[in-house]
Amino acid sequence: MKESIIQIFEKTFEEKPQFVIRSPGRVNLIGDHTDYNDGFVFPLAVDYAVWLALSPSSDMNITLFAGDLNESGTFNLETFHNTKSGWLEYVKGVAFSLQEKNFSLSGWKGCILSNLPIGAGLSSSAALEMAIIKAFAAVSQFSIEPEEMALLGQRAENEWVGMNCGIMDQLASAGGISNHALFIDCRTIEFEAVPLSHNSLVAILDTSTRRKLVASDYNARRQQCESASQFFKIPTLRDLSLEQLETNISMMDKTVGKRALHVVSENNRVLSAVDFLKKNDLKATGRLLLESHESLRDLFEVSSPALDQIVEAALESQGCYGARMTGAGFGGCAVALVEKDASEVFREQVIQRYQEKSGLKAQIYLTPATNGTELISLS
Ligand code: GLA
Repeated sequence: MKESIIQIFEKTFEEKPQFVIRSPGRVNLIGDHTDYNDGFVFPLAVDYAVWLALSPSSDMNITLFAGDLNESGTFNLETFHNTKSGWLEYVKGVAFSLQEKNFSLSGWKGCILSNLPIGAGLSSSAALEMAIIKAFAAVSQFSIEPEEMALLGQRAENEWVGMNCGIMDQLASAGGISNHALFIDCRTIEFEAVPLSHNSLVAILDTSTRRKLVASDYNARRQQCESASQFFKIPTLRDLSLEQLETNISMMDKTVGKRALHVVSENNRVLSAVDFLKKNDLKATGRLLLESHESLRDLFEVSSPALDQIVEAALESQGCYGARMTGAGFGGCAVALVEKDASEVFREQVIQRYQEKSGLKAQIYLTPATNGTELISLS
């Protein structure tokens, strides 16, 4: 990818780029729809990434060519506005949140190439946002930590793009650590790197289904969680225990109660999964993955037939400790924890079984955990 993006840059701008940035997507092992409830998540940065080659320019323009889409876009840092559609809005959103925090920005031109499937739940947008922040940091010469990058990217999504996402995707992309998953407390955004077992692999199971308009369903779930916190007069669902919830659930709106039950039990599952993984108990970790899937399917209602079928196919295949949908849901990818020695057989069996169940062709990516967004200086 590095050589390809350099070549594309040279072809587009007829000069050599000064910097290359690699910004990975993420897959979440466990803990979904918990981040915006100040809860716990356990993602890792993956081996699929957005690559960006760039050089400073002498004006205040940002000019970008997206190689895989064969599209270009440009805007001026002093006059840009929101057109509410397209990938360039993520770039503008990041410029907006940096400027709101008084970063002084200068112009640059660049090319993007990505092997992260778009809309598949692997956070291609967060990876793009983190790459753009690193690009501004390189060109405008400021240093920035992963936590701050993540908050800026989240603000871009919330206030510019209109997706009320939590902090997980941006933090996993910016702060990933090779061979580790990140146990993140989304209230403090502190994280601990937990080593992944040498005997296991993380498999991304792409259903090859994509769902548009995730933002409206997602934002609706977020509001239901807020209604649940209001019912208990607490800041967020992080502050609710399972006992308190179970005592009161019959008095709640049925849907709101189900959403809260998912979030509270999912937080507990993340804490247990972190403990089990530290003890290298892959079977117990895997069981929690399945419980998480069932909760997202039945209580939070964000799974889809294809996601349920691919999770079933994974569980029936050799070497699988556990599997679940991952990310926002409604389509896209599931994740599985797989015995390393069985991973090739696992891949073949999942593809075959998923095809039998759904008539669709799955893509299976076996991924190590990688480092987060990184800048490679070429001069
Ligand atoms: C999307 C959001 C994240 C998180 C997940 C669900 O990926 O961007 O902030 O809420 O959904 O866990």
